Amino acid sequence: MEFEKNILCIGAGYVGGPTMAVIAAKCPRYRIQVVDIDKERIEAWNSDHLPIFEPGLHDLVRKTRDKNLFFSSEVQRGIQDSGIIFVSVNTPTKTFGQGAGRAADLQYWEKTAREILSYSKSSKTVVEKSTLPVRTATAMERILNGNTRGMSFEVVSNPEFLAEGTAIQDLENPDRVLIGSRETPEGIKARKEIVEIYANWVPRERIIESNVWSSELSKLAANAFLAQRISSINSISALCERTEADIDEVAYAIGMDSRIGLRFLKASVGFGGSCFKKDILNLVYICENYGLEKVARYWQAVVEINDWQQSRFIQNMLANMFNTVAGKRLALFGFAFKANTGDTRESPAIYIAQGLIEERAQVVLSDPKALENAKKDLKKFEDQIIFEADPYRAAEGAHAIAILTEWDLYKTLDYDRIFDSMAQPSFIFDGRNILDHKRLFEIGFNVFAIGKSPLKHF
Ligand SMILES: NC(=O)c1ccc[n+]([C@@H]2O[C@H](COP(=O)([O-])OP(=O)(O)OC[C@H]3O[C@@H](n4cnc5c(N)ncnc54)[C@H](O)[C@@H]3O)[C@@H](O)[C@H]2O)c1
Repeated sequence: MEFEKNILCIGAGYVGGPTMAVIAAKCPRYRIQVVDIDKERIEAWNSDHLPIFEPGLHDLVRKTRDKNLFFSSEVQRGIQDSGIIFVSVNTPTKTFGQGAGRAADLQYWEKTAREILSYSKSSKTVVEKSTLPVRTATAMERILNGNTRGMSFEVVSNPEFLAEGTAIQDLENPDRVLIGSRETPEGIKARKEIVEIYANWVPRERIIESNVWSSELSKLAANAFLAQRISSINSISALCERTEADIDEVAYAIGMDSRIGLRFLKASVGFGGSCFKKDILNLVYICENYGLEKVARYWQAVVEINDWQQSRFIQNMLANMFNTVAGKRLALFGFAFKANTGDTRESPAIYIAQGLIEERAQVVLSDPKALENAKKDLKKFEDQIIFEADPYRAAEGAHAIAILTEWDLYKTLDYDRIFDSMAQPSFIFDGRNILDHKRLFEIGFNVFAIGKSPLKHF
């Protein structure tokens, strides 16, 4: 079959894999290749054990793989075959040199640009899918268009707004798709090429076009705003704990104001995930570079509140368990940074597990999808941790349970049975406010939730 377009995606991760699976499913006339330097990851994409878990992803891959969706590690061939190249490689926080701990590490990004240049035999449209500092497209253009082989490259920004856990739903029915380019005739032409792809299934009014810098910056700003709402409600949760106000009641009351809205107002142990912290720190760094100190400090505070919320959670456990957890078995329910994903990057659970291990607790980790990643994250503590997928077994003999991920599974457990199997007095620290606290208290638990008065039997 002759395909209408050949599209390549470099980077087969949480963004590249699901995004391309959806494009392949929605556009059977396009041939989509996804390449990665990580051979194991590619093998997993070609197997029945996909490298990432997302509801609905497996079905989609099964329907499209080897029909119009292909996973391979042949980067060179992929580049030569395709006129449109999406780049969704990782852009983590820099860990060395200038800007360490804040700036984006663009080494994978630049390496990819140079690979595109060295393997290309014709002009191409290169799409920034990764989240990047504003004005990265200039650097990309300079690298790509520095060639003397008569090829020209247009760089288009198309940031991804999917949320892990609902990636397929978000990609199939996005609030909006953002596509930015230079406002030259060539830039607009390249932009339209990408618009055309999404127009196969996204209503035209939800496809936003902009200049390339607005597009790059909108992604950083969107993540900063989302994270800011979480830190805002979490800051108020601390005040609730001192004043007998209830954070869920406060969140509902303020969220019912249509100017504020109810979403992203759930108090918790803090946000995690690979993006929020890294993107805000990157925003802070960019602001500093432009001499905008006040703006930098404003956004920095969002990250500081999040770190504080996590350390507060550990302090709260300690203070309420008679100031020591040494030798006590503590069952942590949930390790993924949010429900419905196995991703644990920047999960608050990593920090909390470490803090409790440092206090010499016997930590038992339970999670339905994230234990493999948890083992890698906590490799240096592996002798001090028990990994137990079954929450009932994890809780056996424990002094306390801490809910760290909002998996539905934890809402429907038989807590009478769990209580009977635990050491007494038993404690529940609900870091996601998902359980029926009154009922748990009636069973006999001492219950501590975020932003609520504790329910204690002593
Ligand atoms: N994870 C999310 O929810 C999310 C959402 C929106 C945007 N983003 C952004 O998308 C980008 C990718 O994120 P991710 O979560 O998919 O990362 P990831 O680490 O899961 O995947 C990136 C992949 O790129 C591959 N790679 C790196 N350099 C390469 C090269 N030169 N050639 C081929 N492959 C290469 C890596 O091996 C890796 O498999 C980041 O910039 C991130 O900020 C992520």
